[in-house]
Amino acid sequence: MTVGGAVIRAMTSKDISAVTAMERDIFPDPWTEDMFREALILSKSVNLVVADGDGSLCGYLCAQAVADEIQIHNVAVATTHRRQGIGRALLEYAEKQGSDNGAVCAVLEVRITNTAALAMYGQMGYRRIGRRRAYYRKPVCDALVLLKVFDGAPAEETKQDVS
Ligand SMILES: CC(C)(COP(=O)(O)OP(=O)(O)OC[C@H]1O[C@@H](n2cnc3c(N)ncnc32)[C@H](O)[C@@H]1OP(=O)(O)O)[C@@H](O)C(=O)NCCC(=O)NCCS
Repeated sequence: MTVGGAVIRAMTSKDISAVTAMERDIFPDPWTEDMFREALILSKSVNLVVADGDGSLCGYLCAQAVADEIQIHNVAVATTHRRQGIGRALLEYAEKQGSDNGAVCAVLEVRITNTAALAMYGQMGYRRIGRRRAYYRKPVCDALVLLKVFDGAPAEETKQDVS
């Protein structure tokens, strides 16, 4: 799949050092290299990178299917490549892979202060279903729990809003 001039493809072990470097640049509480390595060997995981025209990485996503959910653990886009539709494309790709494998919804946590991510998730149909107090460290911050029920999911599977 492509977005602009960039290509979305599966993350491999060769990407880990570049992904870890991006993660350290972007997040105050970054995943370590070992955490990305573990993500790659988890069963039913979806690990994606975005490579731009010259092959350098400009985004990534890690997710895992658990029961009928796809849990989004991590999504980030390089500051130089933001607002080009890459974050949205990564999520859509992961949602499609989850849905093709039987998931009926996607779930994630986001810092309550993360206005860019909240705008993206809201635009994509994610809805708040809960709040976890002091879930994040560095700095301490509440998490909002967001859910997106996929189109076509059976009505009885639709999760209730508990906010
Ligand atoms: C959140 C993030 C992944 C968005 O990636 P992106 O590639 O810039 O997002 P997109 O270009 O796909 O944006 C899709 C929509 O989200 C919304 N959006 C994204 N960034 C926004 C911002 N800074 N302000 C307001 N709305 C924003 C817009 O509605 C946008 O659509 P538009 O550009 O047509 O208006 C990126 O800002 C990022 O990497 N942030 C740091 C890491 C992070 O916070 N990850 C999420 C952790 S839960």
